[in-house]
Amino acid sequence: MKAYGFSRSDMDAVLFEQETPSPEGHDLLIKVEAIAVNPVDRKVKAGIKEHLNTPKIIGWDATGIVTAIGEKVEHFKIGDKVFYAGDITRAGCYASHQLVDERIVGNAPKSFTASEAAAMPLTSITAWEALFSRLKIIAELDEGKTILIIGGAGGVGSIAIQLAKIIAKLTVVTTASRTASEQWCCKLGADHIINHHSDLVLQYRSLGIDDPDYILCLNNTDQHFTAMAELIAPQGLICSIVGTQEKHDLDLLKTKSAGFVWEFMFTRPMLKTNDMSAQHYLLNTVSQLIDDGKIISTLSETIGPINTENINKAHQQLLLGITIGKLALTEIEE
Ligand SMILES: NC(=O)c1ccc[n+]([C@@H]2O[C@H](COP(=O)([O-])OP(=O)(O)OC[C@H]3O[C@@H](n4cnc5c(N)ncnc54)[C@H](OP(=O)(O)O)[C@@H]3O)[C@@H](O)[C@H]2O)c1
Repeated sequence: MKAYGFSRSDMDAVLFEQETPSPEGHDLLIKVEAIAVNPVDRKVKAGIKEHLNTPKIIGWDATGIVTAIGEKVEHFKIGDKVFYAGDITRAGCYASHQLVDERIVGNAPKSFTASEAAAMPLTSITAWEALFSRLKIIAELDEGKTILIIGGAGGVGSIAIQLAKIIAKLTVVTTASRTASEQWCCKLGADHIINHHSDLVLQYRSLGIDDPDYILCLNNTDQHFTAMAELIAPQGLICSIVGTQEKHDLDLLKTKSAGFVWEFMFTRPMLKTNDMSAQHYLLNTVSQLIDDGKIISTLSETIGPINTENINKAHQQLLLGITIGKLALTEIEE
């Protein structure tokens, strides 16, 4: 099979040939049709400090066709179109073929192009788990409550806004700092927009609505921790998906009996939790919501076919940290 990999953090991706792996157990062998890029790609690449003899294949967002299955596979058959994020401890999707455990794979939406489908899995898993597993929002029961989503126009925010509106029917306040990102958040259904580069507490309070029952932090937890602690409603919950460099004072939440929880979308596959199939089911639900016309595409740009030039271009855009929606690449040039 063909693959693109990195031998060291300061080197460009190189194209190389590798034997196509055979699936065993719950694994599917997938012929990759399109991939999307995420900040995690850049972070994993940056972590390759020592020169690797076999370049590391990164990338955790793809769609493709099942071409072979392991003996324990239950959910899929050869020829199925699937979409998935994968497991950060295994080879990624910058390749013509990839092995992925069926328990973290969903049926690809039929109404999306390959690029649109590839843009969905990693961010959908993250947003879904954050809203419904970590913040424990319950559809219908929590209808009418308020969530503040910090970083609404990014990949995760673009699906989180939609899920919070469509499934949970929450009032969504989100943050965006530019006209284009504001407009993007409005299109996705945000009710109010404030700017993450100005005082969040002052701006939120001037909206004249109740303090948020939930806060989902999708960017720079260090910058926003104190404002989140001040804004969260009594007995509310804060979830962050971005690790910190600084120490923060959890006591700020004590008087309000408010909680702080992490979401890391690789926890289930990495640690092989008993409930890892939850990602299969949630991806199928997202796929159905897409085909029912309830969720719209979060793809903002298809850069081109998977090749060195386009991988570098995508990584440069990620580095800026101001992506609106998602960036995808189509299959490897033969
Ligand atoms: N824990 C997990 O499982 C998990 C999963 C996915 C992603 N992540 C991490 O979560 C972060 C976001 O991922 P993503 O894919 O959504 O990223 P992204 O698409 O690169 O996010 C870009 C967005 O961030 C906004 N932004 C920039 N600076 C900000 C700030 N200081 N405060 C708030 N928002 C800001 C920008 O909005 P404006 O242009 O309007 O300024 C831009 O639209 C990354 O660090 C990623 O590694 C973690």
